[in-house]
Amino acid sequence: MSQHIVQALISGNTKLAVIGLGYVGLPAAIEFSKYIHVIGFDIDQKRIRAYQNGLDPADSGVEEIQNSSIEFTSDPGRLREAQFVIVAVPTPTAQDRTPDFSALMEASRIVGENLAHDAIVVFESTVYPGVTEELCVPVIEQASGLKCGQHWKIGYSPERINPGDPVHTFSTVRKIVSGMDKETTEEIQKVYELAVKAGTYPVSTIRTAEAVKVMENSQRDVNIAFMNECSKLCDKSDIDTYEVFEAMKTKWNGLPFQPGLVGGHCVGEDSYYLLEYAKKVGCSMSVLSHGRNTNEAMADYIACKAVEKMMGAKKDLKDCTVLVWGITFKENCSDIRNSKAADLIAKLRTYQINPIVTDEWADLESVREMYGIELVPFEKLPPADCIIVVVGHQRYQSLSIEQLLKMYKTDLPDNKKILLDIKSLYSLEELNASGLCFWRL
Ligand SMILES: NC(=O)c1ccc[n+]([C@@H]2O[C@H](COP(=O)([O-])OP(=O)(O)OC[C@H]3O[C@@H](n4cnc5c(N)ncnc54)[C@H](O)[C@@H]3O)[C@@H](O)[C@H]2O)c1
Repeated sequence: MSQHIVQALISGNTKLAVIGLGYVGLPAAIEFSKYIHVIGFDIDQKRIRAYQNGLDPADSGVEEIQNSSIEFTSDPGRLREAQFVIVAVPTPTAQDRTPDFSALMEASRIVGENLAHDAIVVFESTVYPGVTEELCVPVIEQASGLKCGQHWKIGYSPERINPGDPVHTFSTVRKIVSGMDKETTEEIQKVYELAVKAGTYPVSTIRTAEAVKVMENSQRDVNIAFMNECSKLCDKSDIDTYEVFEAMKTKWNGLPFQPGLVGGHCVGEDSYYLLEYAKKVGCSMSVLSHGRNTNEAMADYIACKAVEKMMGAKKDLKDCTVLVWGITFKENCSDIRNSKAADLIAKLRTYQINPIVTDEWADLESVREMYGIELVPFEKLPPADCIIVVVGHQRYQSLSIEQLLKMYKTDLPDNKKILLDIKSLYSLEELNASGLCFWRL
C-alpha cells in the first residue's frame, strides 16, 4: 500500500476530507486548506450552504471561511477524491448519560461507502479506548468491502482546541497522533505537521490516544469538582474562595483550577465516556464519579444561593426581576450545548421566578428550540433586583461597577441590589466598596 499520501496532498494529486464541520472540523479544514486541497463535508445542508455563503455558524471567523479554498459539500460521493479523511462528528451522551455513538456510526458508514483505495481515515471525535477499532473499523469495512490494514489504514488523533480562545487553536496546540502501525502513525504525523505548527506527539496505539483525550478532560472535571467543594466550604466559613486560590497559586505546584459550572460538549460529557469505559472493564472510578455529580449539582446550588440572597433581602420572589447573563457553555463562544445556565434557570423556575436571559453570543432560535428560552438583547433588559452573571463574556467583564449598578431598579437601596458573580469577573475590593449585596463562588 502506498504510504506517501503527504506527497500526493502537497502535489495536489489527492485531497484531504473533513467529515463534520462544527467547532472542531471547521477550524481543522480551514487550517489544512492553507496548504492543500480540502473537501469539507457535512450532512447538514443548511450548514454547508451557510459556509458556501461565507457565514460562520461555528465561530471560526467569517473572513477565514470566505478566504478559504475549502470545497464545501454535502455530497458524500465527493469523499472518493480524498485519500486522507478526518472524522470530527459529535459524540454526545444520551438522556441516561451513556455514550451516543449514532453520529459516529453514521459517519463511519458514509466514509466506508465512499472510501478511496489506500486511504488513511483518522477519527478526531472524543471516544473511550477501543471505540475507533472495535466500532468504527467494522462499519467502514462492511460499507466499503475493503479490509483495514490491507486496502486502507486507520488512525486516531484527538482534538484539543478550545473554541472561543484565540491562543489555543488547531495550529498552536500539539496534536496527539496514532495509527494502526508505525508506518501509518508516521504518515499521519507528516500530514498533521503540514498545518499544526505546534507539532505532533505520537503515541504507540490508537487506544492510548483515545485514553489521552478522555482522561485529560476527566482530570479537569475532577479538579474543578474539588474547587467547587472547596468553594462551598469557604462559603460556610466566611472566607473568600478566590483569595484562598490566588494565595495557593503562589506555591510551585499549585494548580490554577477555578470553581464553576461545567457544561458544554467536552469536559461535561467526556467523563461519562470514561465512566462507561471503566464500567465495561470492571474498574471503579469513584473519584471521577463523585466529581461529576458534584459538578452536575452546581447549577442547583447557585440557583438556591440566589433564592437565599433574595429572601435574605426580604424580597417577594414572584415580584423579583432576575437577570441571567450568559447561556453559552463558556465565554466568547456561541455553543449552547449542555448549558448549565439553562439548568440554573430551570431550578429558579421551581421557585416561581421567571428569569430574563440575555446572551449576544448565542443564536436566538437555537436557544428557543433547545431550551424554550426567549433571549432578550442586553440593551433591552429591564431594571433588576438580582443579576446572575453566569458566563464571562467580554461584554460583562468590561462593565465597571458604576455601570453594573445602573442595571438595577432605581428605587432599591444598594444592599438590596443582588449580584451573583459566578465567574468572579469583578474586583472584590470594588464590590465591597459598592454596597451591593454580592455573592461569588
Ligand atoms: N467543541 C469542542 O470544544 C471540542 C473540543 C475537542 C474535541 N471535541 C470533540 O470533537 C467532536 C466534534 O465536536 P464538535 O464540537 O465539533 O461538534 P459540532 O456539533 O460542533 O459539529 C459536528 C458536525 O458534524 C456534523 N455531522 C453529524 N453527523 C454527521 C455525519 N454522519 N456525517 C457528516 N457530518 C455529520 C454536524 O452536522 C455538525 O456540523 C466531538 O467528539 C467532540 O467531543 C470537541
